Order: sequence, then C-alpha cells, then structure tokens
Amino acid sequence: MAVLQSEPASIAEAAGHLKAHGLVGMPTETVYGLACDATSDRAVASLYELKERPRFNPLILHVSSLAMAETFAVFDRRARYLAQRNWPGPLTLVLPLKKGAAVSRLALAGLDTVAVRMPDHDVARKLIAAVGGPLAAPSANKSGFLSPTLAAHVQASFGPQLAIILDGGACPIGVELTIVDLTGEEPILLRPGAVSRETIAAAIGMVVSPPVGAKPTAPGMLLAHYAPHIPLRLDDRDPKPGEALLAFGAAPPQGFETMLNLSESEDLTEAAANLFAYLHELDQPPHTGIAVMRVPEKGLGVAINDRLRRAAAGSR
Ligand code: TXA
Ligand code: MG
Repeated sequence: MAVLQSEPASIAEAAGHLKAHGLVGMPTETVYGLACDATSDRAVASLYELKERPRFNPLILHVSSLAMAETFAVFDRRARYLAQRNWPGPLTLVLPLKKGAAVSRLALAGLDTVAVRMPDHDVARKLIAAVGGPLAAPSANKSGFLSPTLAAHVQASFGPQLAIILDGGACPIGVELTIVDLTGEEPILLRPGAVSRETIAAAIGMVVSPPVGAKPTAPGMLLAHYAPHIPLRLDDRDPKPGEALLAFGAAPPQGFETMLNLSESEDLTEAAANLFAYLHELDQPPHTGIAVMRVPEKGLGVAINDRLRRAAAGSR
C-alpha cells in the first residue's frame, strides 16, 4: 500500500488505478472518502466489500464540474441555482437520475435518484477530472467506525487492502455534509450540516424537514427502497408461467422463462455487482414475476439478502 503525496504524478497514478476498477483513499474538505469509478458495478461492489457495509446504502457521487453532474442528474432551476452558489462546497443535492445515465445501479442501491456533490478540495477535483467521470465515495472507514480526517486514519482502517491513498493533509471541515432532496416539489433537508437551512432557504425558498418519525441523521433509512413492479419471491421452487429466475451458483433450477445468474462461480462480489442491473432487466414484460435463489448469508451476501428481502416486501 502507498500513501502518496498529492502531486500531479500521483494523481495520474491514482486515476489510472480508478479506471482499472480500483479503490483510492481521497481527501475532501469534509472527511476522507473511499473512492471508486461510479460507472463500474465491479468497482462499487468491491468498495462495499472492503468497507464491510452491512447493507447497500446509496453512495454520493462526486464531480469536478456542474457539466459532469448534468450528464447523469436532472437539474431544475432550484438545483442549478444552489449548485452555482454553493459548489464547490459541503452541499449534497439529491436529484432525479437522468434516463440512460451510465452510472452503476449498485452505487444508487437501485434508486432512480442520485446524490451528488462537488468537493471543495483541489486534490479531489483534480482526481475526478483526471478520471473524467464521477467517483462514488462513502467515508473511508470500515462500517461502524469513526470517519477519517487524516490519511493516517485511512491507512489504519484498511492497511494493505487499499493500494493507494492520496494524502491531502487534514480535512478542513471534518463535519458532515448538508444533504437536500430536490426530487419533489418541496426541498427536504435530509441531513443538516455545514451549509445551513437558512442559506438554502434564502436561495430557493422554504425547506421542509423529513416526515415525523424519520431519523434525519440517516437519510438512507427514509428512502423508498428499490421494489420491482412485479412480485418478487425469495424462493426458487415451482416456477410459475412467465416467471423469471434470478439465479446464483452453478446448478440453478430449471423451468423458468428467463434466467440471469448473479454469479455462476458463487463469487459474492460479482453477485453484488450484478444485483440491481439484473433486477431491473428482469422487472419487465413479458415477465410476470421474479423468483430468487438463496444467496449465502456471509460477507456481501448479507447486504444482497437485505436488499432482496426489502425488494420482496416492497413488491407485494
Ligand atoms: O463527508 C461526507 O459526507 C463523505 C464524503 C466522502 O463525501 N461522504 C459520506 O457518505 O460519508 P455517506 O455514505 O456516509 O453518506 C451518504 C448519505 C447516506 O446517508 C445516504 O443515505 C445518502 O447520502 N444518499 C445517497 N444517495 C441518496 C439518495 N438518492 N437519496 C437520499 N439520500 C441519499
Ligand atoms: Mg459515512
């Protein structure tokens, strides 16, 4: 593993590693991020695995320009105005996903909205610009541990499992981002942070809070999770007419109209990478339902099963 001083040669090396589906520790003005190419399902799956996230929480996509954000997110007047006034800076906007956007479905946890920010940190923006596309990045710590504000914290969390950490010094803000949801009529403050509610309200008018009972500190919990339009059942026996199978492993049951295999070799990273893309593909006519094979409850399998259970509950 290498902690690299942030100079042009090391930024170029890190960009090359990202384009080859690798992971990089990246400084931002808030905390260090564990970054990967947001268009690569494979890279995103290995990020969840290294971070040991117990379930797939959607990731924030980091951009180096407004134009880059507009390639995958739909900006209305409010969104463009807020971005112009607060970017680069610690404000994340949740926006509708553009149709056909080349973004990993796994990074979005299957949602049709996307969280996007432009970090106020030179090294981060240079790295993103060098990759030429958005980077998905949660904080660079193992799930459940403290957020890192120094390259040394990132190194302590991941050791030799993380090939490159760009050292950008101490993160100047160190507190959480503000997250505003602009996908509906009223702007919703999902997470209060460095950019105040008043600043946002002064720019675009009233900002409401999430519904009562919802935990504002964990916006992931508020999300309508991905649910297919057709029934999904966690059981692969007795195929029904028109039903498709989401398979796993070398010996899938026969008799289904269509089958997509998450991983023939029972590789959970590969299965996670394929999960949402395959669900979307099967959730279409002429299929009348989706049956799912059992995935082992270990490693990324825990997150895969969590999402499948939610999808099954939501599809009823
Ligand atoms: O400072 C930070 O917040 C760092 C740096 C690296 O950007 N990011 C970070 O991300 O720590 P994370 O994964 O802790 O928080 C991302 C939050 C989650 O609460 C997630 O639910 C929310 O953003 N989020 C992502 N996509 C969303 C979406 N489409 N709708 C609503 N919330 C979303
Ligand atoms: Mg975090």
